[in-house]
Amino acid sequence: MIKYLGSKRRLVPVLAQLLERSRARTALDLFTGTTRVAQAFKAAGAEVTAVDTTRCASVLAGCYVATDAQTVDHRALEKAVDVLNRLPGRAGYVTETFCVQSRFFQPHNGARIDAVRSAIDAEYRGSDLEPVLVTSLMEAADRVDSTTGVQMAYVKQWAPRSFRPLELRVPDLLPGAGHAVRGDACDVVADLGEFDLAYLDPPYNQHRYEANYHIWETLVAWDAPVHYGVACKRTEIREGARSAFNSRRTMPEALARVVGAVPARVVVLSYNDESWIGLDALIEMCRVHGHVEVLAFPSNRYVGARIGIHNPAGERVGTVGRLRNLEYVLVAGDRATVRHLVEPWRELTVSTRAAS
Ligand SMILES: C[S@@+](CC[C@H](N)C(=O)[O-])C[C@H]1O[C@@H](n2cnc3c(N)ncnc32)[C@H](O)[C@@H]1O
Repeated sequence: MIKYLGSKRRLVPVLAQLLERSRARTALDLFTGTTRVAQAFKAAGAEVTAVDTTRCASVLAGCYVATDAQTVDHRALEKAVDVLNRLPGRAGYVTETFCVQSRFFQPHNGARIDAVRSAIDAEYRGSDLEPVLVTSLMEAADRVDSTTGVQMAYVKQWAPRSFRPLELRVPDLLPGAGHAVRGDACDVVADLGEFDLAYLDPPYNQHRYEANYHIWETLVAWDAPVHYGVACKRTEIREGARSAFNSRRTMPEALARVVGAVPARVVVLSYNDESWIGLDALIEMCRVHGHVEVLAFPSNRYVGARIGIHNPAGERVGTVGRLRNLEYVLVAGDRATVRHLVEPWRELTVSTRAAS
């Protein structure tokens, strides 16, 4: 699984249990990111639709959600990974851009990324194996990168993991049907069909995922884009439209619209206590689906909160920020169903005026 800000690693067991307790057979993961929640839903037996705006998330969803492990030619997949792992490095765009002009990967790994991605493009473009192999490469590159988890900057000294050689692995595919949709939740939410359960995990702030993970966007698009800045970001990031969820001004209305339009019997929304919308307002939004219960889980903040207090010369320039926050999980739907769903976490239920 790639490093991804806001990924719901700790909440996955809770979300999977909510799905199981609801007996949902169809599920929507509307801001799927790494797809780890969608994968947990699929592993629990649901037919999942995973939506996100980024190319990166859409390829991950193509691999882990839309690919059915039962219909994949496993021998061909293993052979493909083996052949790609044996390819010698051949320096190209990745090496020049992300190893010479910037320092996200060591050049020996950059050249291997170039060679492997070019081979996938030449041999597998448009095939069922393409998203699986691009995912395998993205995960391999993530294991040897030299960042703190976002691609807006690289670390000053090479990260210890960046010395290791790039090695692709066969992704752990899941059996069953699923769907990957690349699109804006605001545009597609009404056209996806009906679901037993929908999970919504929108961005919390102004930081755009296509900028935070621009190298994955380029690795997927494989279009050698013109770039700008120290981090060599795609120029489309500077020029392109922003998600309504990345602006304090547009986010509340966009979220209310999406929550209101999502066609599901049970709606689960996760948010944290640093977001632009207060808990009472979130509860009001979810009320269109019936009764609302709120669970609150304490969680550690991004490592940048701890280390982002030094300047490039390594001098201390600030104090450590808040290290913990609360992850809220709002569950909305029919009263009896919602009460049954949240029963295992009774002691974590938040009582607010709006929820009662
Ligand atoms: C908090 S992250 C989701 C993390 C995910 N639940 C996980 O566990 O990996 C928010 C996601 O919303 C996506 N996103 C941002 N704006 C969007 C929009 N308008 N429509 C759909 N997805 C969007 C981002 O690309 C990002 O992957």
